[in-house]
Amino acid sequence: MPIMTDIRKSWWKESVVYQIYPRSFQDSNGDGIGDIPGIISRLDYLHNLGVDVIWLSPVYRSPNDDNGYDISDYQAIMDEFGTMEDWEALLKGLHDRGMKLMMDLVVNHTSDEHAWFVESRKSKDNAYRDYYIWRPGKDDGREPNNWVSFFSGSAWQYDEATDEYFLHLFSKKQPDLNWENPKVRQEVYDMMTWWLEKGVDGFRMDVINLISKTEGLPSVGNDRYAWGGDHFMNGPKVHEYLREMNERVLSKFDTITVGEAPGASPEEAIRYANLDGSELNMVFQFEHMDLDSGAGGKWDLRPWRLADLKATMSKWQTELDGRAWNSLYLNNHDQPRMVSRFGNDTAAYRVLSAKMLGTFLHMMQGTPYIYQGEELGMTNVRFASLADYNDLEIHNMYRERVTEGGADPAMVMESIYVKGRDNARTPMQWDDGENAGFTTGRPWLQVNPNYTAINAKAALADPDSIYYYYQELIRLRKSHDIIVYGSFELILADHEQIYAYTRKLGNERLLVLINFTERDASYELEASAFPGQGTRLIGNYETVAEPALSGVLRPYEAQVILYRAED
Ligand code: NOJ
Repeated sequence: MPIMTDIRKSWWKESVVYQIYPRSFQDSNGDGIGDIPGIISRLDYLHNLGVDVIWLSPVYRSPNDDNGYDISDYQAIMDEFGTMEDWEALLKGLHDRGMKLMMDLVVNHTSDEHAWFVESRKSKDNAYRDYYIWRPGKDDGREPNNWVSFFSGSAWQYDEATDEYFLHLFSKKQPDLNWENPKVRQEVYDMMTWWLEKGVDGFRMDVINLISKTEGLPSVGNDRYAWGGDHFMNGPKVHEYLREMNERVLSKFDTITVGEAPGASPEEAIRYANLDGSELNMVFQFEHMDLDSGAGGKWDLRPWRLADLKATMSKWQTELDGRAWNSLYLNNHDQPRMVSRFGNDTAAYRVLSAKMLGTFLHMMQGTPYIYQGEELGMTNVRFASLADYNDLEIHNMYRERVTEGGADPAMVMESIYVKGRDNARTPMQWDDGENAGFTTGRPWLQVNPNYTAINAKAALADPDSIYYYYQELIRLRKSHDIIVYGSFELILADHEQIYAYTRKLGNERLLVLINFTERDASYELEASAFPGQGTRLIGNYETVAEPALSGVLRPYEAQVILYRAED
């Protein structure tokens, strides 16, 4: 049971955020790459959906080793995406519609082509040397420690110019910044202030819980290479740095902030996203994203189980209630498409299960995030060959496992089909014309061939589409405080097919019933807990009986019912 409910109201709790991956959203000039003018041309589509905030994945200047997450100039726009004037027009277009803009802040690392790093690598006594994490090799010439990077291989890169290694938790073109250096922190704060003064409304902070590393950068165990996460996830000074950032920058503006925090537990999240507002508004936690990974990590496939999803999501709901604030997401540009992963993307159930998942998520406590194309029920993709994929994470993993490690290529391709990030990055499917209306040129990544059936034009013409269902989910949030602020309670905890929960606020109780399976599922609830005759707020089946406290949910059925006790 929740201990207390803090219903301090904030606009960012009441908002719904929509994430745009600019490279794949809408191309306007035929170069095959999405751009800012393309986004501007789709603002009415987003406004009509009802979302409040746009989170824009990075649009800064970048050599695109990791599609913009490797930034070479924080205060310039990537040429392929347009100009600063285009960006200003985008901001104005959003603000004119009463919407807000959240930029991606990538400050655990820069690109190796950033001016700071170009200087830093020149000599050991360069003024920028300490902006990054340089160490000499071990006596035997090996890397300074045995950590592996998120993108396969050692997290260290040797640099001949000064005969030292630099740390890169991601690709070798993404050197980690040295947050121990107060000058680095001040540069970041100044840059953030510059964007806030230009009018941005907040930041999504890329892997922000990795910025503080254990002093001495110790190796882990005795293996040649090992996962060093305990030494950089939620590190010793991370809260100190975030409080400093908050004091010097965030507290001076009215912002929305979400920190990406792999490896964060609810206890950690309560510190990052505490309600006194001294650090961030919320974090992206990853526990539910790890439920279908085996001991070998992301590529080690195992089916997720409803019992685990229930335990994980419910834990985050109850532990943060009254203490911190949740973000709610089931996919983004790094994750497979949610309908393919947690729903059923076959023709019979795609629409039903996509609506089911949207209901499941939007009725929880927290700020919901929609990833582009989710509102259309876009699915994973299976490209015939490795060469059709773009993502460096996929290519590095394949090289390490197949080319160097001798693994079975078919098995590795299967893991790419299930988990690869390019599942999320295929271009937006706007219509059934050439390249799904994304570009008149050759798309940088192929369009999912199912665009002829799954596209925005078809969704907008169909009153029963997922798009309009999401529109209704968002509208309900705006008219029922209980959806935003109600406390959460898991019910039917041991049910093998149904995820059921309630929300409670004042004399209202919201009942959310979700069948996660392809089979009918029967249920029986305790009548005394639900006063009066309930009112159905939303459901994903066209024909429905009166709300009942016992009955059968059809395959992937979702129902939301509001009960109100008479005073
Ligand atoms: C997390 C981002 O979401 C991902 O796309 C990126 O590759 C890494 N951080 C490194 O910036």
